[in-house]
Amino acid sequence: MDIKKLISKMTIEEKASMLSGADFWHTKAVERLGIPQMMVSDGPHGLRKQRVDDETAGVNQSIQAVCFPAACALACSFDRDLIFRLGQALGNECQAENVGVILGPGANIKRSPLCGRNFEYFSEDPYLASNIAASHIKGVQSRKVGSSLKHFACNNQENRRMSVSEEIDERTLHEIYLAAFEYAIREAKPWTVMCSYNRINGEYSSENKYLLTDVLRDKWGYEGLVVSDWGAVNDRPKGVAAGLDLEMPSSGGVNDKKIVEAVKNGKLSKADLDKACERVLTLVDNYLKGREEAPVWDKNADHELAAEIASQCMVLLKNDDRVLPLSRNKKIAFIGKFAKQPRFQGSGSSFINALKVTDALSSAEKYADVSYAQGYRTEDDVIDGRLITEAVELAKNSDVAVIFAGLTDLFECEGYDRKHMGMPECQNELIRRVAAVQPNTVVVLHNGSPVEMPWIENVKGILEVYLGGEGVGEAVCDVLFGKVNPSGKLAETFPKKLSDNPSYLNFPGEGDFVRYSEGIFVGYRYYDKKEMEVQFPFGHGLSYTTFAYSDLKLYAKSITDKDTLTVSVTVKNTGHVAGREVVQLYVRDCESTVIRPVKELKGFEKIELAPGESKVIVFTLERNAFAFYSDKIHDWFVESGDFEVMIGSSSRDIKLSSVIHVESDDKMPFVCTPNTTMGDVFALENGAKYLEKLVGSFAESLSTESENNDMGEATKLMMEAQLRDNPLRVMISFSDGNFNHEDIAEICDKINNDLNKK
Ligand code: BGC
Repeated sequence: MDIKKLISKMTIEEKASMLSGADFWHTKAVERLGIPQMMVSDGPHGLRKQRVDDETAGVNQSIQAVCFPAACALACSFDRDLIFRLGQALGNECQAENVGVILGPGANIKRSPLCGRNFEYFSEDPYLASNIAASHIKGVQSRKVGSSLKHFACNNQENRRMSVSEEIDERTLHEIYLAAFEYAIREAKPWTVMCSYNRINGEYSSENKYLLTDVLRDKWGYEGLVVSDWGAVNDRPKGVAAGLDLEMPSSGGVNDKKIVEAVKNGKLSKADLDKACERVLTLVDNYLKGREEAPVWDKNADHELAAEIASQCMVLLKNDDRVLPLSRNKKIAFIGKFAKQPRFQGSGSSFINALKVTDALSSAEKYADVSYAQGYRTEDDVIDGRLITEAVELAKNSDVAVIFAGLTDLFECEGYDRKHMGMPECQNELIRRVAAVQPNTVVVLHNGSPVEMPWIENVKGILEVYLGGEGVGEAVCDVLFGKVNPSGKLAETFPKKLSDNPSYLNFPGEGDFVRYSEGIFVGYRYYDKKEMEVQFPFGHGLSYTTFAYSDLKLYAKSITDKDTLTVSVTVKNTGHVAGREVVQLYVRDCESTVIRPVKELKGFEKIELAPGESKVIVFTLERNAFAFYSDKIHDWFVESGDFEVMIGSSSRDIKLSSVIHVESDDKMPFVCTPNTTMGDVFALENGAKYLEKLVGSFAESLSTESENNDMGEATKLMMEAQLRDNPLRVMISFSDGNFNHEDIAEICDKINNDLNKK
């Protein structure tokens, strides 16, 4: 397609019309110019292609497809290759179904456990979220199908998602919320990015030039297309000028007309219209170029993959007395409706019409004889005494009770937030009652987000499955019976209670405003800084084997901010079964002029080890491992100094650490004014010299005082400390007429001139 030539032949009306959908799921065709339609479909953990005979917004009317584990589970794999394979499978399915773009993945940060859509998001940590998103996108796009990284940006709650303004300071926005997208965009280059519904600092994402052009395109170099979330458009011409190319779904021509009017009356430039049109045509062109002749969609193979992935994502949270794996010749009870009808995906736009769902009860047959009791109801949260008594009786007469519990759609769903972090009371009661009669109780959780566990001390084992996709039943049995050794790690912290969470005081905000007053202290960044006990820390996950960490090597003692640092560590499987371990690398800035987290994830690798086997894991750290985002320079900044490189098996289980010195060329701009503090001037190179005259006499008076006074030294230190925080101009008040405004201005000029010379 010669796109520039095509555009030159198009009328303003035709171009404007290209910038919105033909219907819910297709871009527009221009028959006159031979431009075909292209179909897009949800995502992100399966193909939700709506049936052609039913082009409505209904969520359940899609073709049958394989439902893979949801994002909340996927991130726990900490496994880039596994996620890439998932992406490939999704890409294949899109090829087979002639879908040009799959809408996902979602990289939004889990700010609060209450966000109703957390199950579609990866993590509370931007490094992890962005890395997993990048692998997902690379997998899909390796099959010549486009991804749509969403929801850009800060769609961190469902409450008033179409009107709320997320009030976020610049550093937090970049260091946490945008960072979750940045690496994925730079590294994986998604064909499309979907803007979010909400506003950021007052401006709708769909017309936010700072977001869609200044940051996304100019700073990050993004060359793809930006599509609106479905119905996110507010002011369409403003959106085009800001960088929103395609409006979805169709506005029935209403907004296209607005674009035409705006171009005709000069409010929107032709160049902006052409640019957006070019991006839509380039997308359609990429889709056409990527079509394969006879694509094959092997649904059964994809189902197997879904089950394999699920088994790699489960997180063994607790395993006292090695209650797991289950031994096959014991009397085993499976309790809870989710054992028969697992909750394996969330509700809303990602809902997949699953091919075949496997449940734990039938999947257990190949391992052991298992008895069953329902235990609770899912249609409401009413404690059913009869169901509980039945379950308790069964548990009493068994050697081990495995309770399948979690959240129902009533408790979490796209479109609304959770009201609390609790599980259904009918399930809590069941767990309490069963655990009271059966010491070997294990809880298997199916949920999209953390839950409070009031019964935690009474059960021996907890397996967090999250929403495991359609192969969840077989996968969970493979893990429970030890065929697969669990290797997932939490991609988010489980706080003990909701009020421990840093967003607690400001979630979901007041009316249409929510202040992110916790700043960069999201998830473990907060719990660590507060030295707070948590239920389960970020990165936590047990195994049926044990690992020993040794031989941490940093291949330099000192580097510059332009160098890379190679780090290696040896991990050995010291147990009796094969297993996978997620080796996590965190970095701490030992001393900083800005407030920084205690540690931040800057690397992870997942390895597989046979019993007795060791492997050396190598990490390469670049400048961004040491940087923070500075709102003074509106960019990332590395401060010279020492940094601790930590290797852990979770964020709270650091096995080894070592220190590296980083010498940085980054300079903070400094302008001296009469209100600059003396301490800030002292901190400059040769800073004391500038202040010699100004504070000299003051210091002298201090030293006389100290000679005559027992408390002299302490007083001097106190005075010095106070002096540091005084602005230069204060000496006018305290020098008895020795200094005036001109003297202070002269000092400032000297400092500024010297700094400018450098
Ligand atoms: C959701 C998107 C989804 C789109 C299309 C919106 O409501 O927020 O994630 O891709 O609908 O179904």
